[in-house]
Amino acid sequence: PQESGIWDGWLTGGHSLLEEMNASVRFDRRLATQDIEGSKAHAAMLGEQSIVSAADAASIISGLEQVQAEIEAGTFVFDPALEDVHMNIESRLRELIGPAAGHLHTGRSRNDQVAVDTRLWVRDAIDRLDALLAGVIGILADRAAAHHADVMPGFTHLQCAQPVTIGHHLLAYGEMFLRDRDRLRDARRRLDESPLGAAALAGTGYPIDPAGTARRLGFERTARNSLDAVSDRDFVLDYLSAGATLAVHISRLGEELVLWSTPQFGFIKLPEDLCAGSSIMPQKRNPDLPELMRAKSGRIFGNLMALLTVMKGLPLAYSRDMQEDKEALFDSADHLELCVRATAAMLQGLTFVPAKTRHDAELGNTVATDLADWLVTEKGLPFRESHSVVGGLVAWLQARDKELKDASPQELGSFDARLAGLPAEVLTVDHAVDRRRSPGGTAPALVREAAAELRRRNAEP
Ligand code: ARG
Repeated sequence: PQESGIWDGWLTGGHSLLEEMNASVRFDRRLATQDIEGSKAHAAMLGEQSIVSAADAASIISGLEQVQAEIEAGTFVFDPALEDVHMNIESRLRELIGPAAGHLHTGRSRNDQVAVDTRLWVRDAIDRLDALLAGVIGILADRAAAHHADVMPGFTHLQCAQPVTIGHHLLAYGEMFLRDRDRLRDARRRLDESPLGAAALAGTGYPIDPAGTARRLGFERTARNSLDAVSDRDFVLDYLSAGATLAVHISRLGEELVLWSTPQFGFIKLPEDLCAGSSIMPQKRNPDLPELMRAKSGRIFGNLMALLTVMKGLPLAYSRDMQEDKEALFDSADHLELCVRATAAMLQGLTFVPAKTRHDAELGNTVATDLADWLVTEKGLPFRESHSVVGGLVAWLQARDKELKDASPQELGSFDARLAGLPAEVLTVDHAVDRRRSPGGTAPALVREAAAELRRRNAEP
């Protein structure tokens, strides 16, 4: 018998709240391509296993291809009365091919269907984000190589600490983003299994071939437990969590770009076409994109927290709660991709001002550690003692409105006789960066090598 409503016979449905609250097609239509891909693989398997006739399987597959074409052409009409993307597509398939469409759902439930769709979607999202990140890392490596010898202040507690090179600072972000890529790939490796065949929760009595559908969909393996297959959203959480850590990195970079572009820092000039103006202050050139790179982390963390909270109390197996995974997922994916694209554009377009970064690197007695180290290596002082000598000297100079870089050899010698023969270069920032050659250190020679090494690691499959 032909169905009338979607739940023929048993349920009347029809209350407007049911549609308003339950229907998900408004957002899960974004799974349409994955849904059709999953259905085609399932139909092909049903035909191959002679669970449905070869003719019906072929007709289902060509019908689904027609639906896909309508979706791509933008002519497909999604109807909220049909709840979700799955029912919308199946209903259109029935319009196109008639009763044969009724065979598609054999040995399948929307529970394994939505699980496979979402896995396919996340897999693509991971690949997109990973590729975007590889681009950002490439830009960082190039810019780091170009600025491998340009000195800037390094901070701790946002107080002047020791000079570093611009290249070295950029490569720190390269490491973060490379770890982000690694986390994404790790998530991809774990999600790489097909839940199809779990059906509603318990598996199915039909002689299905889950390995066959997995192979068709490019999954590495099949789910080992049908209850877990339909209840698991770890793969979404893994993506959201890797994305949240990535958002931390983008936010920290955004914050530095905001700071660096102020006249007070003046380390960089932001690309003009990526700056916003003020409606009242004619002189303004505001770093709106870096600010939003910083701010988007809020919703990206929120989406992770939302799904963790949705999942944590659910008994096995499927509950409708799990439908709430999608808006969090889509929102994070959209904003992560946007942020990474903005990061690339910013890093590509900004200009460093090495004269200013060098000037500031010389402020705040940033070579104090180098002087203390000199007393250790040249005069044999224990470091704790040289630390205290230099600390006293800094205070003594400060009382005279001076810094180490301004101290004359006479002043140094009169403060402490052991400082009498100090070579002037020990108090220069170039000397300070150049001597830091411990692995991962800021010396220009190392930074140039590290940039090449980052490029190589970024290209690893
Ligand atoms: N739209 C639903 C979701 O995203 C599909 C699964 C519905 N399954 C069910 N048993 N009601 O979760």
